[in-house]
Amino acid sequence: MKKEVISSPIRWAGSKKKLLNEMLEETFKRHQKNYVECFLGSAVVLLNVINNNEDLDYENFYVNDINSNIINFYILLQKKPEYLITQIKELSDKYNNFSMDEKSSLFYEIRNIFNCSDNSDEKSIYFYFLMKTGFNGVYRENSKGHFNVPFGKKEKIIIDEKYLMNISKMIKKVKFYNLPFEDFLNKMNKKGILDDAFVYCDPPYLPDDLLVYQKQMLYTKDSFNHEMFFSTLNELNIKNVMISMSESIIADKIYNNPPFKKIDVRNIIRVINPKKLFSSKEVAYINYQIEE
Ligand SMILES: C[S@@+](CC[C@H](N)C(=O)[O-])C[C@H]1O[C@@H](n2cnc3c(N)ncnc32)[C@H](O)[C@@H]1O
Repeated sequence: MKKEVISSPIRWAGSKKKLLNEMLEETFKRHQKNYVECFLGSAVVLLNVINNNEDLDYENFYVNDINSNIINFYILLQKKPEYLITQIKELSDKYNNFSMDEKSSLFYEIRNIFNCSDNSDEKSIYFYFLMKTGFNGVYRENSKGHFNVPFGKKEKIIIDEKYLMNISKMIKKVKFYNLPFEDFLNKMNKKGILDDAFVYCDPPYLPDDLLVYQKQMLYTKDSFNHEMFFSTLNELNIKNVMISMSESIIADKIYNNPPFKKIDVRNIIRVINPKKLFSSKEVAYINYQIEE
């Protein structure tokens, strides 16, 4: 499996990319009927799983994220790629021909429309545009759930039609879900999909300081409860699960419990701050045997 890592059309906090192929090759459970991913994010893992599927050998792909913008973007790219590409090309041509002041006004105008719109096609087009023109290309929401990243002062945006068409073809068979992880896993369970599946989970960032985590759980609305997530996996008695994480004492406390065991996925680089790449020791907790 010596293919180049395919990048995602969308940049995402916590995205995995470096050494992704090595992680798929060395640690993923192959030859299962279904590939299930609970926290899709940028979809970079899914795209590379599909790219390496001759080796991994999955038949069906079921993926989920609670963020509706990312899921609706991929559904539109899957179903109406020509329409999506034409619309974003039109918008980016307009942007590229503007002065920096005009670019800035266009960005804030689109950001406003995006935050008020409930038309999912329109939102997906604007979502892509905002991710390309916002500061550092990151996605961030305020407490009202509004995208609030400032203008990124980018001179030019380049839309690679061939690449986007290729991604659209790659994801033709994928089933996308936009649910909290527990609803998604329950749905997969009821449909019998988990009986023959490999379930990959890259949950939201877990602070490596216990106090920070406890404070976050107490005071931050909607903060991700890792204990609850781990109990859901165990209650549903799901086989062949991988949870990837950067190494910490809290992560071990929550996840290094039977039937799970810890493995080292070294040198995988997490892109948390898009400007500053830093390498941390990546580990994973799995409840299956790795093939030799
Ligand atoms: C660390 S990111 C996944 C990154 C992804 N592996 C990548 O390489 O881009 C975690 C994702 O979990 C999603 N998420 C957060 N809480 C969730 C929940 N309760 N249920 C489902 N998804 C959730 C976030 O929207 C985010 O995209």
